[in-house]
Amino acid sequence: MSVIQIEGGHPLNGELVIQGSKNAVLPVMAAAVLHNGITVIENVPRIQDVFCMLGILEHMGCICRLEGNCLTLDTRTLSSCELPSHWAGCMRSSIMLAGPLLGRLGQVKAGFPGGCAIGQRPIDLHLKAFRALGAEVEEDKEGVLASAKRLSGASVSFSCPSVGATENAVMAAVAAEGTTVIEGAAREPEIVELCSFLTKMGAEITGAGTSKIMVRGRRRLHDARFFVCGDRIAAGTYLFSVMACGGRAVIQGVAPDHLTEPLAVMEQMGAEIRREQRLIGISFSGRPKSVSVSTDFYPGFPTDLQSPLMAVAARADGISRIEENIFEERFKTAGELRKMGADIIIEGKRAVVCGCVQLTGGNVKAEDLRGGAALVVAGLGAKGITSVSGCGHIDRGYENICEDLSRLGGVIRRIE
Ligand code: UD1
Repeated sequence: MSVIQIEGGHPLNGELVIQGSKNAVLPVMAAAVLHNGITVIENVPRIQDVFCMLGILEHMGCICRLEGNCLTLDTRTLSSCELPSHWAGCMRSSIMLAGPLLGRLGQVKAGFPGGCAIGQRPIDLHLKAFRALGAEVEEDKEGVLASAKRLSGASVSFSCPSVGATENAVMAAVAAEGTTVIEGAAREPEIVELCSFLTKMGAEITGAGTSKIMVRGRRRLHDARFFVCGDRIAAGTYLFSVMACGGRAVIQGVAPDHLTEPLAVMEQMGAEIRREQRLIGISFSGRPKSVSVSTDFYPGFPTDLQSPLMAVAARADGISRIEENIFEERFKTAGELRKMGADIIIEGKRAVVCGCVQLTGGNVKAEDLRGGAALVVAGLGAKGITSVSGCGHIDRGYENICEDLSRLGGVIRRIE
């Protein structure tokens, strides 16, 4: 069991190249299965969720080679459409394989996906899309069985813009005969990334990044090479880290356009932000100003940055109000922040954060991926030593959180 130990109060200064995006690479890896051939993916972050996806792909017969941050996937040897519960349960993104497997092999049998315990996280919209495309879908307490002799293009309409369901619908539609129109689609940059990758493989897709995506299916797919974009959530975490303890830093490899709303919130809190094509600069000193923020679907404030924001708001000058509108149980980190002296009251989906002058280091536990990262953010600005246990959650999404923050001058290390 390992612990991340942080000595707070050291400003962060310098430059950092951000890791590849977790939420972009996982669906891209799944989408590779649609093709019977070889895919090369560059800028792959070496994180636990990627290792888990590699384990699943190998279990299904694919040949995977990860050298540094470059992944070669040979899906010609794909031999199984079964995703046993112990594999499916290791992360949320295991469900991303359902659409591609259904498309390529005509069948998928999968245990329910796991992932962060941040709410109910149903998969009804994923299944609705498969049914619309002509699949027969059965569910029992073990998982899902979907099969289709052949998928046919159709109209798919989502009542809520789910990222995962949109990705699964697009991937299944690529293998379907005819045209599929997805309405109410999610608009996250990771959807655009997935569609760019599919297009590079030969798929015909328009409207990615809007709420209406059109896919003309059964185009001939071919080998492709794809470079994954920088991780906007990891970048946002590091920018909030600078706000926790002051400093001046530059994060390279991330598009400021992917973080429009979080950057606006950081500015409201007193940060000076510089935006360039694939670079964000931040400069911050003193205490943050309080804010009112509601999480929302893209381009709104991302739920994944809600906990890091809370860690910074905990020492703001004034009362901040945070509303969580995407996941019902995403305030668990508040309890850990209270152990460090934060004054946070939770009422349903609203948190009222009364900023204090300084947090105090303590022993805290990561309960989920972004909540764990938020505790690191809090520790960087706290007085004394903070020990964050439950690092396994953080490892699922951050490639080198200790090395990255140390490079900027943070005093942080992992103790095994
Ligand atoms: C993805 C991201 C996650 C992020 C989330 C919201 C990945 C690997 N994960 O998760 O980091 O926090 O988007 O931006 O990309 N819903 C349903 N039925 C469904 C599916 C979803 O009701 O079938 C609801 C969920 O309960 C939630 C909302 O839709 O309230 C959004 O969830 P969704 O966008 O699907 O999140 P994920 O794709 O799981």
